[in-house]
Amino acid sequence: MSTMELKILILPGDGIGPEVTREAVKVLERVASKFNHALSLKEGLLGGIAIKKTGSPFPPETEKLALAADATLMGAVGLPEYDNAPPEKRPEKGLLAIRKALKVYANLRPIKTYKALIDSSPLKNHLVEGTDMIIVRELTGGLYYGTPRGISGQGSEEKGVNTMVYTRAEIERVARYAFGLALKRRRKLTSVDKSNVLETSQLWRRVVTEIAKDYPEVALDHMLVDNCAMQLILNPKRFDVLLTENMFGDILSDEGAVLTGSIGMLPSASIGDKKGGSEVWVGLYEPVHGSAPDIAGQNKANPLGAIISAGAMLAYTFNLQEEANAIYKAVEGVLESGRVTADLHPKNKPATTAEVGQAVCDSI
Ligand code: IPM
Ligand code: MG
Repeated sequence: MSTMELKILILPGDGIGPEVTREAVKVLERVASKFNHALSLKEGLLGGIAIKKTGSPFPPETEKLALAADATLMGAVGLPEYDNAPPEKRPEKGLLAIRKALKVYANLRPIKTYKALIDSSPLKNHLVEGTDMIIVRELTGGLYYGTPRGISGQGSEEKGVNTMVYTRAEIERVARYAFGLALKRRRKLTSVDKSNVLETSQLWRRVVTEIAKDYPEVALDHMLVDNCAMQLILNPKRFDVLLTENMFGDILSDEGAVLTGSIGMLPSASIGDKKGGSEVWVGLYEPVHGSAPDIAGQNKANPLGAIISAGAMLAYTFNLQEEANAIYKAVEGVLESGRVTADLHPKNKPATTAEVGQAVCDSI
C-alpha cells in the first residue's frame, strides 16, 4: 500500500475547540497508523486565543503555516468577551481571514440522518428519515467580504453599509464544484437565491443555468431562499445538492444542522483549488458547532463533529475514501453503542469527550 504524507495544520481555537480537536487528532493518528500514512502535524493560533497571544485573530505566522499545509483542521473560534468588539478585532475575523487566505470557496455541509439519532430530531420521524443532502455554500464572496462596508455618520444620519457582490467567475467556480458533486450523488441540484428582489441573485441564477448545460445528467431547479427555509422543514428529503451564496448558506446550514438531531455531529469542509501541481485539494475543516464557551474545559463536548471533519479531510483533500469511510463507520458504531455525550441524550450516563474519541479509535 502506498504511503502518503499528510501535512496537516491544527488550529484548536477557542472554547471547546481544543478538546474536540484533540480527539480528532487521536483518530487521525489511529487511521494513519492503520493505513500506513505519515502524519505531519503542526499547531497554530486562530481566533480569541490568537488575539490574546499576538493581538491579531489571524497572525501572519498562522497564515504561513496554513499556506504550507495541505489541509487545516480547526476547532472553533469565538469568546463572549469579544461580543462587543468591532468586527476587525473579533475572533470570527480570524476565520473569515483564513478562508480568504486559503481561497476555500466551496463550503460543504453534509446533512444526513443517523438511525441512532432520529428521535432527537425536532421533526417527526417520517419527515426526517432518509434525509441526505449536502449544502454547498459559496464561502469567500458576497456580503461577508463586499465593499464598501462600515459604519459612518452621526446621530440619526449614522449609517451601516454592507455590500453583496458576486462576479461571474465566483459563481461559476462554486457552481461547477456543486454540479461535479451532484454527479457523484443523486444528480439533483437545487440552486437557492432571492432573484425576485436582488440583482446578485439574478446573475447567480443566470450563470448557474448556463453552467448546467455542461452537466446534462444533473437535474437543476431554482428555489427562493425564503421558500427553501420552509421546504427544509416540510420536506428535507427532496434535497440532494443545495447550492447557495455565502449568507443564505450560513443561515440555511444552521437550519439544516438541527434537522438531524444534533449540531454537535456536523462536519464542514471548505475546499479550494488543487495545491500547485499536486492531486491534493487545499481544504479547511471544522465542526459546524461553535465554541460553546459555557461547557468548555469540562470534557463534555461532543467530539464527533470534529472527528467526522477529519474524515472529510481524508476524503476531500487527500482522496483517501477508504480511510474516511473507516472513520464514518466507527462513528456510526459508537452512536449505536449509546456511549455518547449528553447533547445526544444517551439512555445511560453520558460519556466524556475523551471517552467518545477513544471509542472511535478503538473501533477503527
Ligand atoms: C459558520 C459560522 C461563521 C460564519 C461565523 C463564526 C463567522 O457561523 O461557519 O457558519 O458566519 O461563516
Ligand atoms: Mg454559521
